[in-house]
Order: sequence, then structure tokens, then C-alpha cells
Amino acid sequence: MRIGVLCSGGDSPGMNAAIRGAVLRGVEVHGFEMVGFMDGWRGFHEADLVPLDRSAVRGISPLGGVILGTSRVPPFASGDGDAAEWQAIRARMAEYRLDGFLLIGGNGTQTVAKLLTDAGIRAIGLPKTIDNDLGGTDYTFGFDTAVSIASEAIDRLRTTGESHSRCMVLEVMGRNAGWIALHAGMAGGAQVTLIPEHPESIEQISEWVLSVRDRGRSSLVVVAEGFTLEGADGEVTREGLDGFGRPRLGGVAEMLAPLIEERTGIETRATVLGHVQRGGSPTAFDRVLATRTGIAAADAAHAGRWGTMAGLHGDRIDLVPLHEAVGRLKTVPDARYEEVRLNFG
Ligand code: F6P
Repeated sequence: MRIGVLCSGGDSPGMNAAIRGAVLRGVEVHGFEMVGFMDGWRGFHEADLVPLDRSAVRGISPLGGVILGTSRVPPFASGDGDAAEWQAIRARMAEYRLDGFLLIGGNGTQTVAKLLTDAGIRAIGLPKTIDNDLGGTDYTFGFDTAVSIASEAIDRLRTTGESHSRCMVLEVMGRNAGWIALHAGMAGGAQVTLIPEHPESIEQISEWVLSVRDRGRSSLVVVAEGFTLEGADGEVTREGLDGFGRPRLGGVAEMLAPLIEERTGIETRATVLGHVQRGGSPTAFDRVLATRTGIAAADAAHAGRWGTMAGLHGDRIDLVPLHEAVGRLKTVPDARYEEVRLNFG
């Protein structure tokens, strides 16, 4: 059996460990031939591929980024692809003698894996995103690393903030779901955690910041990039689309900081963590989760369990049918937000 590995979407710490797990199990145990496509679908369309064997994956688990590269280039020019595009995919597969794909990616990639499956092309999904917003799995690799980096940023901002009696606002990633903000906010003891699932008003946020000051402390506010202020007047608008047709995000911390300062009279500074939280070496947790995900995906291919995604459930990696996993954004439940709110104000 000859399997193609392809990474798509934003990178996520642990992708290398996932490739290594899949290759060690696939090549060494199941006797597969494996190849990797460079920069996702670009490499597939342009015949830019490398052999994946034991020597290709030696020592890569601790490395950040991904050895194959990744891109947001979709397999089709638009939507679900036309007849010619599907024909091109099948022709390329025949040319590469591919029996199936292991697709490492987030929501968009798993949706493509399902499309391929529906078209009779063999695919297995390996879920990854620092945002942890994918259905069909408890956690995605990359998330734990991002939370660790964001928590450290909170610890560091807190000492400088306290020294100057300032309110510090930290923006973390989280386009549609506030998982990174929630976990980092709880780990770092942020006095306010703002997530897309729970719009809050500027009046309420300022009240929390003032009550912290009344207790002789300085506030640390962590905000997910997809957060919106409650109330028509103050609603955050981020007009325009980015290069991939997604609403443009970012800038929420810079928008909040002057509003907080104006309402509280407390000097306020904004920090945008940005891509720092996606870079560098994965935590041990992410390396282990990613390795196990890769192993499970190789086993799934061997067992002919195409059309599934290897998701974490408790301590087990199970195979979830792709049609159950995709299109289900995993947002922060109210009960989890209530827990972090215990520290507010
Ligand atoms: O990987 C998901 C994500 O980290 C989102 O939280 C963020 O909005 C986006 O990627 C940033 O993407 P890019 O690297 O393409 O700017």
C-alpha cells in the first residue's frame, strides 16, 4: 500500500511527531510505502513530494513547524471542485501510485477529507489546530503548547503590569472559539477572560478592572481574537476579508485597551501574542498526543478504516467517521466559562 501524507491549514506544534508516529507504524509495522507532499495541496498538484521512511522522520518530534511545510492552498480552485479538478486529483493519484491519504489539518482539511471520502477516494484525518475547536476529539495537538506559551506571557505581563499599576490586555488566537484564552486565563489567574462565545460590554469589563484596583491589584485581561463587545454601539467591527476569504481578525486588544483606560482612568497596555503561540517546540503532552494520533491513523489505513478521523476521547484514540467530525465547531461550554469567571474582578 502506498500512502500520501499531506498537511494543510495553519501549522500546529506536534505535526512532526504525528508524521513520525504514522511513518514508524505505517512503514515499519504495516509495510506501507509512504510519501509526503510539500506545502500541502501545492506539492500534490506540482509533483513536489518526498519519500517518508524511518530516516526521514528521525529526531523530528521536538521540532516546531512541520518538515513537509503546510499551506492554506485548497485542493480546488473553489468550493467542492468541478469535474476537471476531480479528474486531475485521480490522475495525480494514479501517477504517484497512491492508495490513499493521511490528511493532517483542522476544520477545513477534515472537510476536504470528507469530500474525498464521499467521492470514493481513501482518506483518514489527523486533527490538529492550536485553537482546539474541532469536533470529534477532546483535544487537538498544538493546543497545549499554545496554552503554555500564552500562560507564560500572562505571568510575564503580570509582573510588569503590577510594577506600574497598569491594566495589561493580552490578545491570544481563537477565531471562533475561546479555548486558548480560557485555559491560559485560568492557568495564569487572569482577572478577566474574554472569549467569542460570550460577548461582554465595555461597562462590565471596566467594572471588573476597577474592582481589582479596589483590592489593591492590577488587572490582567486575556482576550481571544474573535471576541466581540456586547451592545450595538460598542460592537467591534473588523471589516474586510483576509487573503483566504476569512473575516479579518486581530486588533481586539488594541481596541479594548484605550476603552478600558478611558472608562477606568487606569493606564492600560495591549499586547498581541500572535504567531509566537504557534511556533517553537511542542510540549511533551502534544508530542505524545500527536505521535499516538499518527500511529492510530496508520493502523486505521491498515485496517481499511478509510473515511475516519483519529480523535482523542478520554485516554483513547478512537476512529470517528469524518461525517460526524466535520462541520461541528467545538466551542467553550457555558459551564467552563463559569469556572474561569470565578476569578473575574
Ligand atoms: O491555526 C488557527 C489560527 O491560529 C487562528 O486562531 C488564527 O486566526 C489563524 O490561525 C491565523 O492564521 P494565519 O497564520 O494564516 O494568519
